[in-house]
Formats: sequence, structure tokens, C-alpha cells
Amino acid sequence: MNKLRERVGRLRPQRLLAGAAAVAVVGAGVSLISSGAAVAAPGCSVAYSANSWGSGFTASIDITNAGDPITSWTLEFDYAGNQAGGSAWGGTLTQTGKHVKIVNAAYNGSLATGAKTNVGFNGTYSGTNANPTSFTLNGVACNGGTNPSPTPTVEPTVEPTVEPTPQPGTHLDNPYAGAKWYVNPDWSAKAAAEPGGSAISNQPTAVWLDTIAAINAPAGSGYTTSLRGHLDNALAQNATLAQFVIYNLPGRDCAALASNGELGPTEINRYKTDYIDPIAAIQADPKYASIRIVNIVEIDSLPNLVTNAGSAAGSTEACRTMLANGNYSTGIAYALSKLRAAGSNTYNYIDAAHHGWLGWDSNFAPAATLFAETAKKATGGVNTVDGFITNTANYSALSEPFVKIGTTVNGTTVRQSKWLDWNQYTDELTFAQAFRNQLVSAGFNSNIGMLIDTSRNGWGGSARPTAASTSNDLNTFVDASRIDRRIHAGNWCNQSGAGIGERPKAAPASGIDAYTWIKPPGESDGSSSLIPTGPNNPGGKGFDRMCDPTYTGNDRNGNSLSGALPNAPVSGAWFSAQFRQLLANAHPAL
Ligand code: BGC
Repeated sequence: MNKLRERVGRLRPQRLLAGAAAVAVVGAGVSLISSGAAVAAPGCSVAYSANSWGSGFTASIDITNAGDPITSWTLEFDYAGNQAGGSAWGGTLTQTGKHVKIVNAAYNGSLATGAKTNVGFNGTYSGTNANPTSFTLNGVACNGGTNPSPTPTVEPTVEPTVEPTPQPGTHLDNPYAGAKWYVNPDWSAKAAAEPGGSAISNQPTAVWLDTIAAINAPAGSGYTTSLRGHLDNALAQNATLAQFVIYNLPGRDCAALASNGELGPTEINRYKTDYIDPIAAIQADPKYASIRIVNIVEIDSLPNLVTNAGSAAGSTEACRTMLANGNYSTGIAYALSKLRAAGSNTYNYIDAAHHGWLGWDSNFAPAATLFAETAKKATGGVNTVDGFITNTANYSALSEPFVKIGTTVNGTTVRQSKWLDWNQYTDELTFAQAFRNQLVSAGFNSNIGMLIDTSRNGWGGSARPTAASTSNDLNTFVDASRIDRRIHAGNWCNQSGAGIGERPKAAPASGIDAYTWIKPPGESDGSSSLIPTGPNNPGGKGFDRMCDPTYTGNDRNGNSLSGALPNAPVSGAWFSAQFRQLLANAHPAL
């Protein structure tokens, strides 16, 4: 879990979100116009879905313009209960009593005939969170909603736009849209036991299958719940989406020492038969067909082959070995094939590091090319890939409002600052959106979506800048203006000052399938000193000095202090002090 840097890149155009496949059935807004008319007049269809967790919810609304092109829109609907919407993305929300109005954002006011856009927001409620069923767009009633509208009495002149309710058997464009996400009770209990932890303990987090033993969790293995146990829990929660991290490659974590795995560099056959095959067999059980099973595939591995397996500073012998023997890409291609073939309800997202790793031109396109070459080796090729995830092993800020890539100080680009060191991106969101386009150019399907891990990149609290610095000195300006408070963007271990980031949320921005918590907040990245194999280190995890607060760094972090918290346990173990800091520095605040 680290990064490397390099120079010069180019931003690519961003696509508009292809729209989340939602749970709703959508009617045709033009279905009642008089016979013989061409596509004309106002018309709309709306699909509303909500992911509720007891007192709050995330709503996602797909709006399709089924009438003439429009240049602005106002969506209106009424809640039956006491739901209160918060600030929206993709529009501006105002609410009077039960009546909600959402006006388009600057970028999505213009909708051609048939064009779709998505808006969403977080809300609160008590009691029942019934979905609204009638909507108007620019004052005209939209057919559809979360229930099918009654059959029109007048013959439709235009084919209805129908998005069928996803059935088991449907492979969705964005599995997160409209899903109820599984909350891992094991993580939840640890979070809830911390002071203030109940503010987030009901949030969904991923389950890491980080050894073969994690699959069946036998007694004495240290795992509380098996893969089947988690899937059974998910059924009991009526969850429709559960997230698992596939993390056990031969020669794992080749550029660092904190998350070395159980399989040696050549143990590719054990990876296939003892690890991937049993996972795929369990995920293929028809009992779990109602759960969208998201597999996050092998954090850090392919990015390490891009930057840390050659002769560049920071490269390691272990990464060169894994590049030469091909077992990272063989293993990943095998995982993609088997897991995707387990059912139409399984989804693969490959790790794509983060902007402070792949955001330089020398890494950006080569990474996309390597990812595509790897996926093409899978049975099913690029069709086995639903998308990519960034920021799981890191803390990069989601957005940098005061340090944008075009920002200059006294005529000098911020790219020249020590912090950015010629990176093409200043934050995760712009990186993820641009990298999505690069991946499509490299051969992935145009509907792939990105995930951004926001479990620990909030950077709130009193140290958070509230305005751009007024300094004319480039480095002072960047360092005082940036949201990300790390000492260096290459620092990755238990970062001091970090906070909980955006809450898990489907389809939050163009090209992004979800903000999600894959690294469970409160689980250590690595021990701050050597912990011998034994009760406090049953897996024999190594000690990486990037987790030692006294370490003054290496080529990969500009020879800076590590910024790590002291007294950390081994990677994956509960780190109470870190969890408390994350709560205190949450942004948005809890
Ligand atoms: C560790 C894993 C752990 C994961 C989630 C990784 O750094 O190596 O063992 O499951 O973090 O906390």
C-alpha cells in the first residue's frame, strides 16, 4: 500500500453517468399524447430508489426526459411520511413540509429527448420510509415511479421507456443503485463499542477474505464469520448487496511489508484451487441469488507492477519477481473469470490505486493498458469487469475545492508544487473520472463504473482549510489550501489527522457507481513497530517502517516523515485510537 510518482499527463473528457439501473418500473411520459403526434410535448419518467438504514437514507432518482428537449427542469414530489431531504447532488433540493422540489444543476439542465440524468441526496426519517410514487417534471406528471403506473387508457404513440425491476438473473450496470447494502455485524460491533461509534456503526463495510481460512472461518482461525455466514447474515438483513475483498495473491503486497500474505510468489495453484474456487462455489449458490455480490479484486497488486517492478526509485525485488513470473496477472485473470461466472449477480471491481500513485502520465495510461491486458486473459475478457476502485489503501481527499489542477499562484501552476510534484490530478474524484475514460480507451466496456473508498479521507476537524490561502508562495499556498493534511501523498499507513469521509452512497457523481467503505474504519494498516508472530500477530505480518511515526521516509514518499499514528497493531487488527480520531475528524461531520 504505497505509491510512486512520475511526470506529465493529460486530462481526458468525462462522460456523463449512464444512469443507475434502479429498482423502479418506469412508465412513458408521452404515453397519453394524441394519436399520430411525433415525439413532442412534455413528458418524463422517473425511477426513485432509496437505501435506508433505520433513521437515514440515500435516495437516487433517475429522470428521463421523454418529451421535447428541455434546457432546465424542476422535479417535484411529495413524501407520505416525515422524510426530510438534505442537500442534493445533481440538483438543488428545497422542501416545504412534505413537498420536495429539485432544480437541475448547471451541468444537467439540458436533456435531449430520451436523455437521462440522476440526482440524489441523503435524508432522515422515522417510522416508515415509503418511496414517493408520483412526480412532476416542469409541472407535467411523469408516469412511473417506484410502482408501475396504471395502464394508460389512450393508446400510446411512442414505445414506453421501461426499465424492468431487476430480477435475480439480471446483471446490472450499477449494482449499488437502489440496493440495500450489507452491514457486517462483526465490524459494526467493534465500531459501536467505541465512544460515539454508534454514529457510524450501522454503515455498510466490506468483508476482507484475506486468507484461505477467512472463507470457512474454522474455530481457532481468528475469523468470527465465514463467507457463507456473511451471505446468510445479508439475507437475514434483507440486504441486496454485499461487498467482499479478494486479497490473497501469491507474493501479496510486494512493495510493502505490512500486508504480506500467506502464499509465496509461486503458489498460484493454491490461489486458484484453495482460494478462488471455493469462494466462487459459495457465491454461485442459488440461495444467494438475490444478493448482488461485489468482489473487490486484489488491492495494490497491478498498480505495483506498473510502478514498483522496474528500475524506478522505490521498486522492489519482490515486485520484479511478481512481474516476471506473471502470477499477479494470472491470478487476477483467474479470479475475474471464476467469480464472474459464479452468477449474473456477481460483480468484479479491480483495484486502481489512487491519484497519488497513478495520476502521473508515466503511470496513468500504462496502468490502464496493463489492466486491460490482464482482463483480456480472463474467460469472458473485459466483460468480466464491472469497474474499478480507487483509494482503498489510501487517504486521498475526494475533492480539493481550493487546489484545482488549473489553479496558479503568481502565474505558476500548482502542479509544480512539492505536494503535487507534477501530478495531473489534485484529488480522487477528478482522477477516478478521468481514469474511467482511460480504461474505456484501453478496451474496457463504456459502461464501467468507478468506486471511491471514502472510509478515511474526510479530513475534517479544526485543521481543515475553509478558504484558499492568500499566500503568493507556491508551496505555502498549496500546503495551506489543501484539504488533504498528509505530510506527503505517498504516505499510506494509519495517517494522523484523517477522518471518516463521505458516507456510502450510490451513483454520487458522473461515472462513479458508489462511494463505499472498503477499508473498514478502525482497522490498522500496519504495526508501528515489529510485533513478533504470536497472539498479537497470528498471521506473521511484517513491519513496514512507513507505519513507524519516527521514520523519515524513502524515495516513495519524498523522504518525508511517515505521518503514521503511534502504537498501531498489525494490519487488519482493531486500532481504537485511530477509530476515535477518524470519528473526531469526520467530514461531512457526523
Ligand atoms: C490487511 C488485511 C485486512 C485489511 C482490512 C489489510 O491491510 O492486510 O489483513 O483484512 O487490511 O483491514
